[in-house]
Amino acid sequence: MIFVTGGAGFIGANFVLDWLAPGRAAVDEGVLVYDALTYAGNLASLSQIRSHPGLRFERGDICETERVLELLREHGPRAIVHFAAESHVDRSILGPAEFVRTNIEGTFSLLEAARTYVGELTGADRDAFRFLHVSTDEVYGSLGPADPAFREDTPYAPNSPYAASKAASDHLVRAYRHTYGLAVLTTNCSNNYGPFQFPEKLIPLVTLNALQGRPLPVYGDGSNVRDWLFVGDHCAGIRAVLERGRLGETYNIGGRSERTNIDVVRAICKLLDELRPDPAGPHERLITYVKDRPGHDRRYAIDCDKIERELGWRPSETFESGLRRTISWYLGATDWIGEVTSGRYREWMDLQYGD
Ligand code: NAD
Ligand code: TYD
Repeated sequence: MIFVTGGAGFIGANFVLDWLAPGRAAVDEGVLVYDALTYAGNLASLSQIRSHPGLRFERGDICETERVLELLREHGPRAIVHFAAESHVDRSILGPAEFVRTNIEGTFSLLEAARTYVGELTGADRDAFRFLHVSTDEVYGSLGPADPAFREDTPYAPNSPYAASKAASDHLVRAYRHTYGLAVLTTNCSNNYGPFQFPEKLIPLVTLNALQGRPLPVYGDGSNVRDWLFVGDHCAGIRAVLERGRLGETYNIGGRSERTNIDVVRAICKLLDELRPDPAGPHERLITYVKDRPGHDRRYAIDCDKIERELGWRPSETFESGLRRTISWYLGATDWIGEVTSGRYREWMDLQYGD
């Protein structure tokens, strides 16, 4: 079995759903999801596999080293796939402490548990073990308009507390390879979008606001650029790295789909005009430019040549096809949206967008 931290969050849940999907012939092993169920984690995202015999769930914090170690000893996973993190840049600006705790101390705690666990394994089990650390392109900092895309050897230059905490966790993972020989792999991926993304991030936030006739907040002048990847393609990349990645290596994963934020918001509006027309007029009328994010990175772009060349991974969705799938999913996900947009969600919306 595999041990998945943060498996009730956006990407983790998509990964677990894909892993246990019917007909996935290559994979017949179970998953233990270990997740603290913070505001961003929700078991509703796993409800369609609730009674799958391959799924086990334990609620817990990655900072609890002894608890994690006990679970590893009890279940004997062949891999840890580490998604658990505080993941929202705007929250890291308002409250960085939780990012240092979960992303840095939590990853350290998990590495310690893994190191002890692997030390107790022998033979083939020991050789087979992998620790896959899921990270972000934001560790590389910000690009100018003509700069080449981030490569695996681009120097780290994180700018937000979120990016800095992920960079620190990447360094710890690297050090555990170098110092203790732990069988680590790291992926650095661009902005994901797709089903089950918590509606604090750009694409689901704009979608839900548009459906409610609320303003669509665009930071600054909307010209910041992100590279977008459909979440299912990210999960396929992680599976490829887990199975075939070279130990100790990092792999950049991206969609070769750079878009300005305003173009993304307009694309969502156009899809909604088609799929859920608003009698009050085109959704673009709701676009509202708001105060920019402090230290807002201008541009991210990923050079994913290495994972394509070495592991044969390719994205299967274009931005247009993936966005259409995503918006259609949100249109049908009334129950899930009701679950996750609780009181705590409304508090965040007031705090971040109240003025
Ligand atoms: P998310 O915020 O949707 O989910 C995070 C999950 O981790 C939640 O289920 C939460 O309950 C859990 N968690 C948080 N703190 C925990 C703790 N202390 N102990 C145990 N569980 C805890 O995040 P996401 O968007 O799914 O991102 C997953 C990973 O992928 C993160 O490491 C993130 O840095 C990375 N990543 C995300 C993106 C993106 O665009 N979302 C892109 C590249 C990399
Ligand atoms: P986000 O989804 O928060 O991802 P990240 O900051 O990790 O890239 O934001 C994506 C882009 O959209 C980013 O440039 C900030 C911008 N943005 C807005 O313009 N308005 C919003 O309300 C949000 C949440 C983000």
